[in-house]
Order: sequence, then C-alpha cells, then structure tokens
Amino acid sequence: HKHIFGLEQMSREDIEYIIATAHSFKEISNRSIKKVPTLRGKTVVNLFLEPSTRTRLSFEIAAKRMSADTFNIASSTSSAAKGETIIDTARNIEAMNPDIIVLRHSSSGAPHLLARHVDCPVINAGDGTHEHPSQGLLDIMTILEHKERLDGLKIAIVGDISHSRVAGSDIIGFTRLGARVCLAGPATFIPYGIASAEVEVAATVKEAVTGADVVMALRIQKERQQDPLIPSLREYAIRYGINREVLQYARDDVLIMHPGPINRGVEMSPDVADGPWSVILDQVTNGVAVRMALLYLVLGGVKESQDTEG
Ligand code: CP
Repeated sequence: HKHIFGLEQMSREDIEYIIATAHSFKEISNRSIKKVPTLRGKTVVNLFLEPSTRTRLSFEIAAKRMSADTFNIASSTSSAAKGETIIDTARNIEAMNPDIIVLRHSSSGAPHLLARHVDCPVINAGDGTHEHPSQGLLDIMTILEHKERLDGLKIAIVGDISHSRVAGSDIIGFTRLGARVCLAGPATFIPYGIASAEVEVAATVKEAVTGADVVMALRIQKERQQDPLIPSLREYAIRYGINREVLQYARDDVLIMHPGPINRGVEMSPDVADGPWSVILDQVTNGVAVRMALLYLVLGGVKESQDTEG
C-alpha cells in the first residue's frame, strides 16, 4: 500500500507482516547504538495539526533511528493557525519534495484528502474520530507479546467509543485477528448499530470485564463535558472507572491497556494504571517499533543486513 489510512484497508496477513517487521526493529531499539542507515537521505515531515505527545515523538524517534531527516510542524506554530487550508499547506510541503508526510488532524478523512493533492505517501497519525492505525498496530503488538495470539481472546474496551479513533482501529484490528470485543460505556458513547458477531455491547462495565483477557480503557474527553447527555467525570469514574474492585471479575492474567493520555482517577485508578497488570508503557515502547516498520515498509528502505553487506 502506498498510503496508510487505517486498519480497514489491511488484511490479517498485512497486519501480521507489519507486526513481524516491528519485532525485528524492536531489537534495534534495544541496542546501545540504536541508529541504522536504513532510511538515510529520506525526508519525513510530521504534520501534526492536533496535539500529540506519544505519536509525534515516536514517529520522530522511529525516523531518526533509521537515519531519515525529520521535520515537525505543529498547528500552533504553522500557517494553519493563520487560516491556510490543509490542501494549500500540503501543496507547499510537497513543493519542498518530502518523501513522506505523517498527518494528525482533527477531521476524519483528512489523510485521504491530503493524499489526493500530494505525490508522496501519507501516513494517518490519527484523523478525527475515524482511525489511528499505528496505535491499533502497537496495541496488537503489545497483546501478542503477552498472549501470543488474539484468536479467542475476550477484549473489553471501556469508555468513549463513539469519539475514539483508537477504538475505531482497535475494533477492526482485534476482530480481524480473531478476538471477541466487548464494549462498555455510557449509551451516548456507544455507536448505534455497532454490535455484530464479533462485537458485543455490555450493559455494565462488570459484564464487559468478566472473564476478559485484556481491558482497554479510553480517555474521557473533558473537552466534551459541556454536553448535558454526557455524565460528569465523578459519575463516570463511579460507573465506568477501571479499578481493583471491577478487575476481580477479569482473568487473573488480564492485561490493562490505555492509549494515553490518562485522566488518572477518572477512567482508571492510579493503582491500576501503575499496577502489575498494566502494559501501558509497553504500548508506548512498541509504538516506536511499529512506526519504524511503517516508515520502512512505505518508504521501501534497505534492510540493515543489506546495508552492512554492501
Ligand atoms: N495515544 C496517542 O495517540 O497519544 P498522543 O495523542 O499523545 O499522540
């Protein structure tokens, strides 16, 4: 695939191939000298028109570990803040001949629009409420590291499913690899008609978590608190927060995941976020390896063994 828009476009084999590639890159990240010449001479533009810590930094670290040149554009310091359209911004970036653009944008579909106006590949780093494919892949990689398979697992996803691009990619990826997904959250956070053979909607968080192999909590978006149909943060924490009490219904070897950033004490209690079941920082570590794999596969880099041979 020239562009990476979402997990929707990826087969099970595509996903497994990317994760296998990410595993080989993770070994490089664990070395004392982390840099390889794989993408030397390539230019990566990180166009982040919405805030990000993990995704932006890990795409930059991933590109630098493979010797690419990286350039970062943030909304607050770019001419998007002066009203320039995404198409004009893209055409101007294109005029500087980058090899790839990594885009985060508040509108669903922005990467698809950008790709129609530039010649270089585009990677979606999160578009509106649609998809966040590199996050979906790093979540799958993290589960595979601990459980070796997704087939037959019960994965509970709790929180604001409707507005979450992470949930969008995770639900596609987890079910494509054979997991059963069980959603829980306030009715206003559950997309209408989402239930299917692989996706169940639970009435309570206890029902979703019961027997779960993995519990993924999503961020409650404080910026939506003006909506009268959305529960207060205190009410949410009481009814849907992941804490020790609710986790007693999960499997003993349950994995606790969260894409970050966490509202501590709202969607998850601090002792759970920092507790023995938490793989939240493994997700972040794997994010670098997955993004190395995506940049490598899209840009067609030369494998390290080939570099050193020739
Ligand atoms: N998980 C995630 O996308 O985090 P950032 O918004 O910090 O990139």
